Parts: sequence; structure tokens; C-alpha cells
Amino acid sequence: MSELHFDRHRRLRKNPTLRRMVRETTLSADDFIYPVFAVEGEEIKKEIPSMPGVFQFSLDRLGDEIAEVVELGIPSIMIFGVPSEKDAVGTGAYHTHGIVQEATRLVKAKYPELMVIADTCLCEYTDHGHCGVVRDGDVVNDESLELLAKTAVSQVEAGADIIAPSNMMDGFVAAIRQALDQAGYQDIPIMSYAVKYASAFYGPFRDAADSTPQFGDRKTYQMDPANRLEALREAESDVQEGADFLMVKPGLSYLDILRDLKNTYDLPLVTYNVSGEYAMVKAASQNGWIDEKATVLELLISMKRAGSDLILTYHAKDAVKWLKEDA
Ligand code: PBG
Ligand code: ZN
Repeated sequence: MSELHFDRHRRLRKNPTLRRMVRETTLSADDFIYPVFAVEGEEIKKEIPSMPGVFQFSLDRLGDEIAEVVELGIPSIMIFGVPSEKDAVGTGAYHTHGIVQEATRLVKAKYPELMVIADTCLCEYTDHGHCGVVRDGDVVNDESLELLAKTAVSQVEAGADIIAPSNMMDGFVAAIRQALDQAGYQDIPIMSYAVKYASAFYGPFRDAADSTPQFGDRKTYQMDPANRLEALREAESDVQEGADFLMVKPGLSYLDILRDLKNTYDLPLVTYNVSGEYAMVKAASQNGWIDEKATVLELLISMKRAGSDLILTYHAKDAVKWLKEDA
């Protein structure tokens, strides 16, 4: 035994204090963005069956939810709109009194310091459920850009602090940047869903936002999960077009992509820990098959470790409560 030489890694794991001292990655409330669903109507607080703990709120009920987010110290929310009427060109997305615009006005009036991020897309507002304009069964790119740019401007007019376009049309950052600049909003950052895969993990969200495509799928505009180099091309375009943040979506199955982007770009990087990822954790923990708190904190730290600066997650409120418990 005496000539045996090896490293003693366990020395630094001996007790909780030592582990705390050598911990490379930490989580805090500042890391999170909380997604919120605002629905048209009154007195609605409706739980999404596939997303326990996540609700659609009508504007008269939204207040308590936002108060809790602010109270917990979460700096930012992303608002998704669930309109009562839809049409072929998604008029509700860029209407001055659309559901997101009204929700934004309400929240900003009460909490000017909370950063409100607007998701800029058409799928919740189109009767066909696609993220752009449909012609002869195709989602047409350039025509969609005009409507998306209009949507972004109307969201900022309502008080949105950051524009987060999730539509995956080519040139959406350029089109939105130009429209914002022309409207005098040079200071509004764009958080681009730069790398968004055509994923099965969006299922519960589409229930929550009522945005399931009525025909076909999103594979002509969202990315093929098999592709890694293409993610770098997508990100590069958005950087060239003026994106201020880059997002990778979903999170869990795409941590390699997140790390690739972190190693390539110096912009703040965002992970969208999506609805299906949330649903899996919730279902397993409700069955008693996993420990929810430990699982969620492990998932979130893995996203941070992979290179994410910010995490958009339905777990945000719980995570902050658990972090406080442990502090
Ligand atoms: C669509 C959009 C999607 C999500 C947010 N905005 C995905 C889609 O339906 O293609 C998914 C979010 C989630 O699953 O949590 N623009
Ligand atoms: Zn969409």
C-alpha cells in the first residue's frame, strides 16, 4: 500500500461548510424569470391540468400572483396572452388593448421596477395556431415579420421592458430592432429565442396558451433536435442583427448547445426550462417517485453550470422559497 499515489478529492467534500466554500455555481432569485399567463375574461384563476401550480389569470386576479413574485425578489416576469378571439393574422397580438398589452400596463403601473418581458409571437392569436402568416399551407416568412414588428412596438408602447421574440422566422431580430428604433425605442433590449427546437416538451404550454397548431407542425421554422452546428448559425444571425440576450429552448435536453453558445458569445444567455420539463418533474414528485425540491434545484443548477445566466422557469417561485429555506 505504501507506494500507492492518488488524489484525495474527498478532502474538499468533508462537511457542508467546506462544500459551500468550493461550490462553483450558485442559484439566487436574480437568476429567474417567471412566466405568467394572462387570460381575457373576469374572475379567472384556472390551473393548467398538465402544469400543477401554474394558472391562467384574468387581469382582475393577476395582482396577487405578481405581488408574490415581487415579494420573493424575482426581478422579472414573461407575460403570455390567452385571447378570447383569434383570426388568421393574429390581430390580438398587436392590438393596443390586447391581453398582453393590458396585462403589461397593469403590472407596470403597480410595479415599475419589475422587468416585464413580452413574448413576441402570433401563435396564441392566430386561428391556425402557427407563429406567422399562413399562405397555401405554408408559414410565410417576410409577411410575418411585419406583424411581429408591429406586435413588438405595441408591447413596448404598453410598457414592456424587454422584447422576447419566439417565432423563429428568419430576420425577426433585424425586423423588430428596426421597428423599435424607428418608433424611438432604441433602449429596449431584445431577448432572442435564438435557438428554439421543434420540441415535444412544449405540449403543456400549448394547453396553457391554447396555441396548438391546427394543422401540421412547427418543423419548417423551429430547429431539428438533431442539429448542433445549426444552432451556432442561428445564434450568429441574431447576434449580427442586434440581439441583446440569446436564449436556448428547451433546457434540459439541450445543455450541450447552451455550453456551445456560452463558449462562443459574450451576450447574456437564457435557458427556457419549458412546460414539458416542468410537467415531468411535477408528475413524478406528485407520485412520490422523486424528491421535488432536490430534483428542481439540481436541474436548475445544471442549467446555470452549463452556461445560463438567466433561467425562465415555472419553478421560479418554489425555487426561491427553497433557496431561502436553505440559506
Ligand atoms: C411559441 C411558444 C412556445 C413556448 C413559448 N412560446 C412553443 C411552441 O408552442 O412552439 C413554449 C414554452 C413552454 O413549453 O414552456 N411561440
Ligand atoms: Zn409562436
